[in-house]
Amino acid sequence: MKFFVDTAEIDEIKELNDLGMVDGVTTNPSLIAKSGRDILEVTKEICSIVSGPVSAEVVALEADDMLAEGRKLAKIADNIAVKVPLTWAGLKTCKTLTDEGTMVNVTLCFSANQALLAAKAGATFISPFIGRLDDLNMDGLDLIEDIRTIYDNYGFETQVLAASIRSANHMSECAKIGADVATAPPKVIKAMANHVLTDKGLATFMADAEKAGIKIV
Ligand code: E4P
Repeated sequence: MKFFVDTAEIDEIKELNDLGMVDGVTTNPSLIAKSGRDILEVTKEICSIVSGPVSAEVVALEADDMLAEGRKLAKIADNIAVKVPLTWAGLKTCKTLTDEGTMVNVTLCFSANQALLAAKAGATFISPFIGRLDDLNMDGLDLIEDIRTIYDNYGFETQVLAASIRSANHMSECAKIGADVATAPPKVIKAMANHVLTDKGLATFMADAEKAGIKIV
């Protein structure tokens, strides 16, 4: 499973990228706003750090305007994936940009039918939002599983990009289901390293090492 990092914070991206943990980056208008930076400028900087796909989202609602924005975003770098919402206008924009050779990430997906439409429109990535479904007492992971089944049934090449990930558990469950990509905030990726038995075992080893006076360098 590829790891995308869901942030527009340069320092966080660099830290994880240096560790080989970043196969791509996803941003959205809320994350760009949080960074306090100009979308074109910050996106260009991210693309210069990360070689994998960097999703940059349009902010228009009509297809013609989305297309103009998408074409402008695509010019930032070769690794841009234009992110469009899962609306009829977004699907139209997806089809045109895909035909032009631009990667497209169709976002705000909350149903298997929406994912089916995105695949038909040639999306490079479909982004089903797990956490926002969980927030409504629905099971976001069920959606990932349904989309995986449907895409495999028909050989769709659209990659399942599990999004709105809120916990380390979401990451391992997505990997078990077979999501192609999971995008998560840096803190979730870091939390994957944590285990209470690791902490406990390490404390014992450190105490024994000190008692025995073990020194290596
Ligand atoms: C990713 O593409 C989405 O922008 C992101 O995962 C949304 O996450 P949230 O529901 O935690 O805001």
